[in-house]
Amino acid sequence: MNLKVVAVVPAAGSGKRLGLKKRLKKPFVLLGGRPLISYALAALESSKVIDGIVVAVEKSNIGRLKALIKRYGFAKVTDIVIGGSTRFESVRNCLKRVGPSFDIVLIHDGARPFLDKTLIEEAVSLAKKHGACVTAVPESDTVKVVERDSFVKRTIDRRFICRAQTPQAFRRELINKAYAVKGGSGITDDSSLVEKLGMPVKISKGSYRNIKITTKVDLKFAEVLLCGSV
Ligand code: C5P
Repeated sequence: MNLKVVAVVPAAGSGKRLGLKKRLKKPFVLLGGRPLISYALAALESSKVIDGIVVAVEKSNIGRLKALIKRYGFAKVTDIVIGGSTRFESVRNCLKRVGPSFDIVLIHDGARPFLDKTLIEEAVSLAKKHGACVTAVPESDTVKVVERDSFVKRTIDRRFICRAQTPQAFRRELINKAYAVKGGSGITDDSSLVEKLGMPVKISKGSYRNIKITTKVDLKFAEVLLCGSV
């Protein structure tokens, strides 16, 4: 069966941790001479498994995003929505725009520029099979649980630890049910909401290149990755 897939792209983060000047907003910060958001959108646009794209940005960025969509010819972007004060709210606003003609929802952070065909296709394929999937990489550092006063409480066996990334993909009914929770503002990861419903979430193999641009160091690192020297 040919299931239809929509991509939801939260890109309404303020970029405070990037130390940007007030007028320059994170989705439009330049990476390799191109706006950050254009990378994720280009990967989704060129993917044969993606049928539509919904993007959330801050209200003040809507005009700029429209201009970018026109400039790069992102024909699959059907809706631009106003983001909320948290990622949870931004994704929820996007989900409200996803109609019943779509079977699978793939959610990807606009701040992760190294999305590629394989990450998209793997996530979609696993969501079709299992209902929910999260892209993740094995943890390479040892992980400590820390108490409030900065003393170590315990050490977690890292063989059982994975770091969640996006894309994450879900059957539409399932992610809508998961996002119907109240008080989800502290939620930073979509799949954790599905876990809370007691439903299984499959891991899709991520990539250490698939970084999220949060700080100035991330941006510098992304420039290096872009040069292809790593
Ligand atoms: O804040 P964090 O780094 O977890 O952001 C992950 C993604 O969520 C980014 O692409 C960011 O633009 C987006 N976001 C959003 N609305 C917010 C906060 C973050 O769409 N209020």
